[in-house]
Amino acid sequence: MKKLHFILLAALLLHFTAEAQTGANNAMKQFIDGLMQKMTLDEKIGQLNLLTPGGGIPTGAVVSTDVEAKIKNGQVGGLFGVIGADKVLQAQKLAVEHSRLHIPLIFGSDVIHGHKTTFPIPLGLACSWDTALIKQTARAAAEEATADGLSWAFSPMVDICRDPRWGRIAEGAGEDPFLGSAIAGAMVRGYQMNDLRKDNTVMACVKHFALYGAAEGGRDYNTVDMSKIRMYNEYLPPYKAAVDAGVGSVMSSFNVVDDIPATGNHWLLTDLLRNQWKFNGFVVSDYTSVNEMQEHGLGDLQQVSALALKAGLDMDMVGEGFLTTLKKSLQEGKITLNDINNACRRVLEAKYKLGLFSNPYRNVSASRASVILSPDNLALSRKAAAKACVLLKNNNNVLPLQRKGTIALIGPLADSRRNMLGTWSVAGDWQKAVTLKEGIEAVAGNSVKIVYAKGANISDDTVFNKKVNVFGTEIDMGPQSPDEMLQEAIATAQNADVIVAALGEAADMSGESSSRADIGLPESQQRLLAALVKTGKPVVIVLFNGRPLTLVKERAMATAILDVWFGGTEAGNGIADVLFGNENPSGKLTASFPYSVGQIPVYYNHLNTGRPYVLGGPTKFKSDYLDIPNAPLFPFGFGLSYTSFNYSPVQLSDTILTNGKSIHATVKVTNTGNYDGEEVVQLYLRDEVASISRPVKMLKGFQKIFLKKGESKTVDFTIDAEMLKFYNNQLKLVAEPGQFLVMIGTNSDEVNTASFVYKQ
Ligand code: BGC
Repeated sequence: MKKLHFILLAALLLHFTAEAQTGANNAMKQFIDGLMQKMTLDEKIGQLNLLTPGGGIPTGAVVSTDVEAKIKNGQVGGLFGVIGADKVLQAQKLAVEHSRLHIPLIFGSDVIHGHKTTFPIPLGLACSWDTALIKQTARAAAEEATADGLSWAFSPMVDICRDPRWGRIAEGAGEDPFLGSAIAGAMVRGYQMNDLRKDNTVMACVKHFALYGAAEGGRDYNTVDMSKIRMYNEYLPPYKAAVDAGVGSVMSSFNVVDDIPATGNHWLLTDLLRNQWKFNGFVVSDYTSVNEMQEHGLGDLQQVSALALKAGLDMDMVGEGFLTTLKKSLQEGKITLNDINNACRRVLEAKYKLGLFSNPYRNVSASRASVILSPDNLALSRKAAAKACVLLKNNNNVLPLQRKGTIALIGPLADSRRNMLGTWSVAGDWQKAVTLKEGIEAVAGNSVKIVYAKGANISDDTVFNKKVNVFGTEIDMGPQSPDEMLQEAIATAQNADVIVAALGEAADMSGESSSRADIGLPESQQRLLAALVKTGKPVVIVLFNGRPLTLVKERAMATAILDVWFGGTEAGNGIADVLFGNENPSGKLTASFPYSVGQIPVYYNHLNTGRPYVLGGPTKFKSDYLDIPNAPLFPFGFGLSYTSFNYSPVQLSDTILTNGKSIHATVKVTNTGNYDGEEVVQLYLRDEVASISRPVKMLKGFQKIFLKKGESKTVDFTIDAEMLKFYNNQLKLVAEPGQFLVMIGTNSDEVNTASFVYKQ
């Protein structure tokens, strides 16, 4: 009886929520109908224009001009790259008080991994496999961004990437669609909180739609060519997850999809996004990506602008192709008034949903300013920096470091404030970042002596350095010669008990337009490392990087490697917490580290070949290399801990799965080491026989658990038919009967297995 009551109550609640939603939609429609009746054609086209007045990072060829006059004329729908509440207010006033219809602007920004408080780069944060933590960072970013007057975050970036040459791998969650989808959803919910009218939520903008991470050769903006089946099964799921989480906007990508630029691709922006996925927000181009369709060979500015609008693009970022050509295209019958009305309505709806019409200054108040760089947010940044760390090697348990003796802290990233935030920290102030040296000095305590030397430049290649240093001197050559630095480092290391070598990339060696063909450590640092190892002291590499690197020699030479990515404002403190054992590292890689560049793309969820090479078996006429192994250097899901975990065999509650039922796969995990610690327990499945070739394993579940030393926990995964579904050759989502392998383990390579049969 009680249960029935509950069901009735829930049904009623659903009914009322749906009614309230319909009511709200009607009110919005009425309001926008009324407004659009008053709007001239020019004013409607004006809403489709997104400009940046500078002060942000101009990434394309154009920077907007005459912005003030255009706002007053009703020729601007939104601005981005305006950092600072006073500046936002000033610009909003121009629109609200000086334009004819007083339509407020929408203010966006690249809030990618935090706003002023910066969190680890997304690839690092993903390694926490902690969606609650990730959501919390998005929440904190939204709190700060809204206090700064912003309403719209150009995040999450969810492009699956299996090519670490591509610098923008730093901005996403890595190579896996399942984990990528979980993170995409968490971020959208963190930004939007299902209530855009609140004064501390921002509209999220999932990007870059679509497939941008598959650029050929890892060269940015390059051609993408992919089968539909691969798109549906492997690359599209995270965008879809963002849409399912209610993301308010989508950014189109620079690349072609089926040889049509994404920005003008009707199949992508309308058939798939709106019709199949039921997305009802608005689509913005990437920076001048409408104009760039001219370079792609799709016609002149008028032609490509019309193409983009008709494809389903609503807002044109910076290029002003819409502003300057749509009227003419309408007169010439190349587009319809309906096309313009639809786009204009979607932009106005976004503003309405954000409550900008009732309060254009909704977010800014003196009392809210204190959330920016608040102690809570800084504490979260420190925690996130620690949770992002992945322990790649730890011989002789050299880590955690002991709080005694002498530590030689050596390396170009040891005392480099400039490089702590990582790429795309538009509002972050690097001068507020904590360096590794500061973190170590603060956390080590008085009984440790710390000596320091830079040892080498990040790179000695002046041409390369000039390219990297476009946003400031991240690679600082300093007054000393490479030899002087090296000698000083050796002398400094001589009297130490352990060497901590802070090596890796400068912040902008990854990120947009930062592709690298050689993803090894630059020569200057390899030389330094070799000299440090030669001292005979244990060498702990603290690795700063925005992408997987090739580290074969480094892995062999170092005693330990802790991958710290770029940790954000509190990087130094968070890393020091891990180095000294205040935090036990629990990060797991979300992108495979290749053995060499020649192996790329290398990813765990690949298909089998007809001639798979079996480790230790014959090699001739097998799918392998003569000169390197097939396996990556570090696989997806890999990461060590200061403690150790034992996995029991996998238990299945049943060996037959039928529709509407589920089975449980359980393992008992025991902390068998000397520290309390967290472990990410990973569930993979393999569909052994299907109508298409299926990956050798696919992540289908994960749980992050905490175990005190000596403690055991049973981890339980529920498997149902939904989880077995994939897009078949007809692009239909199906689960096919047959045998499935269940694999549970500590990374994608080390798993225990069991199997079941799925019968429909
Ligand atoms: C990037 C986007 C970014 C936009 C605005 C573009 O160059 O591709 O990710 O949101 O600039 O800054």
